[in-house]
Amino acid sequence: MSTEKVRLAIIGCGGMAGAHLNAYIRLKNQGLDQFDFVAMCDIVENRAQQFAQKAAESQDCVAPMVYTDMHTMLEKEKLHAADICMPHFLHHTTAIACRATSPVFLSSGGWSQQ
Ligand SMILES: NC(=O)c1ccc[n+]([C@@H]2O[C@H](COP(=O)([O-])OP(=O)(O)OC[C@H]3O[C@@H](n4cnc5c(N)ncnc54)[C@H](O)[C@@H]3O)[C@@H](O)[C@H]2O)c1
Repeated sequence: MSTEKVRLAIIGCGGMAGAHLNAYIRLKNQGLDQFDFVAMCDIVENRAQQFAQKAAESQDCVAPMVYTDMHTMLEKEKLHAADICMPHFLHHTTAIACRATSPVFLSSGGWSQQ
């Protein structure tokens, strides 16, 4: 069985993503740490940076990379999962872009698996 952790990115670091981030960190704190935050992406860089900083505290100060353009992120990062928390009208095209580069789980509003 592979011991590689799930490489997770959050795309869109706004209100709902904050709730997701807190939930992920609670999982890690309870020992369910089979995933790593590897990238945070938001068109507002400061939001992605704040998420990266908070995520780093939950994984031995290993900070996820920060991106303001998801296509650049998808080119550079090997992802297993993307939690899409952008405005609704961007979900579809973002999900397609994610799936073009990596097998991904998509969280789009509620959790859904593709
Ligand atoms: N807020 C809620 O209570 C709630 C509940 C359930 C579901 N949702 C769903 O969650 C999604 C996000 O809602 P929210 O309330 O967090 O919105 P939000 O506006 O707080 O956050 C959206 C974030 O996406 C970023 N963003 C916009 N375009 C982007 C792009 N091209 N690339 C990267 N980042 C981009 C914005 O800068 C912002 O930080 C929506 O689809 C919403 O329907 C929200």
